[in-house]
Amino acid sequence: MKNKINQLLEEVKNITASNLDDLEALRIKYLSKKGQISELFNDFRNVANEEKREVGQLLNELKNAAQDKLNDLKESFINSGESDQKNDLTRSSDPIKLGTRHPLSLVKHEIIEIFSRIGFTIAEGPEIEDDWHVFGALNFPPEHPARDMQDTFFIEQNPDVLLRTHTSSVQSRIMAHKKPPIRMLFPGRVYRNEAISYRAHCFFHQVEGLYIDKNVSFADLKQALMYFAKEMFGENTEIRLRPSYFPFTEPSAEMDISCNICGGKGCPFCKHTGWVEILGCGMVDPNVLENCGIDSKVYSGYAFGMGVERITNLKFQVKDLRLFSENDVRFLQQFESAH
Ligand code: PHE
Repeated sequence: MKNKINQLLEEVKNITASNLDDLEALRIKYLSKKGQISELFNDFRNVANEEKREVGQLLNELKNAAQDKLNDLKESFINSGESDQKNDLTRSSDPIKLGTRHPLSLVKHEIIEIFSRIGFTIAEGPEIEDDWHVFGALNFPPEHPARDMQDTFFIEQNPDVLLRTHTSSVQSRIMAHKKPPIRMLFPGRVYRNEAISYRAHCFFHQVEGLYIDKNVSFADLKQALMYFAKEMFGENTEIRLRPSYFPFTEPSAEMDISCNICGGKGCPFCKHTGWVEILGCGMVDPNVLENCGIDSKVYSGYAFGMGVERITNLKFQVKDLRLFSENDVRFLQQFESAH
């Protein structure tokens, strides 16, 4: 009997099967009621008492080995798609739930895509900055209120280490080591020391644009921005430039677009004016060019900076800014179809 068991054990270890039918035949051969292993269990009765213990153990070992082997083979068929279930082409597919892109990423990519069509490339800079790149190089006078703790998050003082308050800091970094022509976009997160509410947050996102070359004019700026507005918000969108002030541009302007929510008729979003401000812009101040080692007698340029949240609100009418950073899937899933 022991010989028989050992022989079967050897046999079972080497079992192979090429499909599920083979496997079933093997199960019947070894493990069914009339199978060889079951027969051995029947014969167990006749084993001498003093051998029962040893033979019993061997027999169990054989049965387990056979079961394990058959299970392993079955599993490998299923995994390789050999099972009947996997071959059923009428079966509904596995419902794999895809994630969605964050609305701010969607809009950021759209902005990048639009400007890349007119030759803009991308660069990024650090969020933790020094005074020179955020303020000094950009012509901010020493007493400017943005340099105050009330507006800016300082990490260390003297020398100052701070969180950038605008992506214009990347302008000063790029200009300092790149020769014109420069035609680039700088997307990124910025920080301001603001009380958090539905309309303000202590961080938000901007996309900065910079174009430096010979003979760049305000008309070039206007042309690029008009192209952007129409691509982003539709062919009928109008733009309006209002004189403004930034230390790093001269002249400076703020740009409004005709409110795309009410079509310019007036609604609560545009405070019934028909216009919504979306960006600041201007001609790069010659002082800034010189601060960054670019000859302002040879080169001129324009810059603009827009808030990504603001543009996203216009596109999707998100009423509360805080939703953008709360990671609530009920909010995020609403942008599935915007891909
Ligand atoms: N940095 C300005 C802001 O954060 C926007 C701006 C960028 C204005 C470039 C002019 C030129 O408000």
